[in-house]
Amino acid sequence: MTKQVQVEICYGWVDLPNKITDEEIDRIKKCSDRIKKQADVFVVIGIGGSYLGAKAVIDIFSSTFSNMQSLNDRKHPEILFAGNNLSGKYLRDLIEYIRDKDVAINVISKSGKTLEPAIAFRILKLFLEEKYGISGAAERIYVTTDKEDGILNKIAKDNEYETFVIPKDVGGRYSVLTPVGLLPMSVANIDFEEILDGATFAEYVYNEKSIEKNDCYKYAAYRNILNKKGKDIEIMASYEPSFAMFTEWFKQLFGESEGKNSKGIFPAGVSLTTDLHSMGQMIQDGKRNIFETVINISRNRSFITLPKVYDDQDGLNYLAGTEIDYINKQAFLGTVQAHVEGLVPCIIINLEEVNEYNIGQLIYFFEKACAISGYILGVNPFDQPGVEAYKNNMMKLLENK
Ligand code: PA5
Repeated sequence: MTKQVQVEICYGWVDLPNKITDEEIDRIKKCSDRIKKQADVFVVIGIGGSYLGAKAVIDIFSSTFSNMQSLNDRKHPEILFAGNNLSGKYLRDLIEYIRDKDVAINVISKSGKTLEPAIAFRILKLFLEEKYGISGAAERIYVTTDKEDGILNKIAKDNEYETFVIPKDVGGRYSVLTPVGLLPMSVANIDFEEILDGATFAEYVYNEKSIEKNDCYKYAAYRNILNKKGKDIEIMASYEPSFAMFTEWFKQLFGESEGKNSKGIFPAGVSLTTDLHSMGQMIQDGKRNIFETVINISRNRSFITLPKVYDDQDGLNYLAGTEIDYINKQAFLGTVQAHVEGLVPCIIINLEEVNEYNIGQLIYFFEKACAISGYILGVNPFDQPGVEAYKNNMMKLLENK
């Protein structure tokens, strides 16, 4: 009975996309407008589910060189991340980099007590207070946390920081469609309402009971069938470097949801064609315990073609006039064929084109598939008891310092 209740309180993400109120959407937009006026740099503090989804979506929709563009070209503050590691170098470099810039921060922690973001927040809060004074800093600190529990919630209340709520029934790794992801997306000028619309559509489509008509259920079932046949590593592959963080989000979603009770499919990732020159050999020829899930963007048109040069010194004129995206597509087709022939089953997920609506669908697709797949595997996809082991040891060591 207790177990059942515990699982049920984690289902908030299922109908999340259409549960968000107009007031919440409005407040996210107003805050992001304020942040855009206040800051050259917006630092998002969080770890695991409290930052990966936002970073994944921002990377997909931003210029590859976004943070190197001028504010004028980028049209929103530079977005940096902190609190996702315990590296002193990282924090030192960050403080040095932002020292003379105008800064706003969004600290995100559902529990409000995770050490990595707590440390980064203390340092950045102090940085802001020294720069702008206590009240000036308070206007630049945005908190996303539980409605009533946790130290972060108390700090936010005591200092009257602008606060967004992570619903109790939505776990960290399922929270990208709450203010956890939506506020940073909005600061990056991403049309997050379109993302929510896409996810709402997916909620409807992937509610189809019949597995024959439900691609999400099919994917969850295929991965478990492959697992039963000895494939215990799933490699997500994408041919767009801007999807690298999406792969990280996927790895965290499935890794923390499924890896328990000595079970689980190990989620890995490759960025292709880059990694064909590193992991390609292993995938093609190594131990046959892997399958691949490939994100294929059907209509990818960047309209950059290979130019013709008259001396043809590099011998590439046979490709002159060909779109680079077309060449990338042939690499995808050739690689899938090679991997399948090398006994690596490939699941292809076709994304018609990269837009907010489709990314919203894709996020929901993986969240639901992950939950279903966890249940097929026989684990609770919403807890993460294993994460406590390192924390307990680290805390004991720190307390004895
Ligand atoms: O998915 C999860 O629940 C975790 O990855 C958390 O997001 C991560 O541990 C951060 O936790 P918190 O938001 O409580 O700081």
